[in-house]
Amino acid sequence: VTVYLVGAGPGDPGLITARGLELVRSCDALVYDRLVSTELISEAPPGAIRIGRDHLEQAAIDDLLLRLGRHRHRIVRLKGGDPFVFGRGGEEALALIDAGIPFEVVPGVSSISAVPASAGIPITHRGVSSQVTVVSGHAPGELDIDALAALQGTLIIFMGLHALAEIVEGLLAAGKPPETPAAVISRGSTPEAETVVAELAAISDAARTLPTPALVVVGEVVALSAALQQEALSLLGEPARVPA
Ligand SMILES: C[S@@+](CC[C@H](N)C(=O)[O-])C[C@H]1O[C@@H](n2cnc3c(N)ncnc32)[C@H](O)[C@@H]1O
Repeated sequence: VTVYLVGAGPGDPGLITARGLELVRSCDALVYDRLVSTELISEAPPGAIRIGRDHLEQAAIDDLLLRLGRHRHRIVRLKGGDPFVFGRGGEEALALIDAGIPFEVVPGVSSISAVPASAGIPITHRGVSSQVTVVSGHAPGELDIDALAALQGTLIIFMGLHALAEIVEGLLAAGKPPETPAAVISRGSTPEAETVVAELAAISDAARTLPTPALVVVGEVVALSAALQQEALSLLGEPARVPA
């Protein structure tokens, strides 16, 4: 028995790794997250058990993996992006170790860089940003806003849409220039993708109606998006697809 903790990529089903897709196509059981595309779920063999983890607490997921691990040979735990980037992959790996169940981590393309890239934003750029800070906006009270406001480079906020007004207010109060370019990218790398670009002081109003999942990018690199997205559109053509 082996449990594979597999990254599904940021949304576009073509962005799973070759190894990840091979495992999905040969699994006995697939346990997947809400952010995983239906195209990838349908790649599992017809006889495989498929379980969506919506509404399950983390302890219930850990328990489910352990129970499946006792009866099935090849279990794929498919997670959005990369399992070890705000994905609780580490918690699941520790539970598997405790239970003595072998596992393998198959990294994925994280939304950290893939979602900004899909909107024409490179998270680093020579002469513009050589430093990236990544935070979760889930519990804004836990952020060191003064330190974040003082940092140079690019700030990336996961799970930050709900608390965006509070986070922005804190950054501005701590001295971050209000005209700093900012972007919110919703459902990046999918056909429903939407990007809003505005100055930091205006970004939470501008992004108010965007649906989740959404990634927030703050920094001068955002100003490159207009030029790069134009070019990327002409280079990319059709979005990627799962290979046959
Ligand atoms: C629980 S975290 C999972 C991150 C994932 N493990 C990764 O490596 O990308 C979910 C957050 O990731 C970001 N996210 C994931 N997919 C996204 C997408 N397609 N577009 C925009 N943001 C996304 C959002 O900030 C969302 O709230």
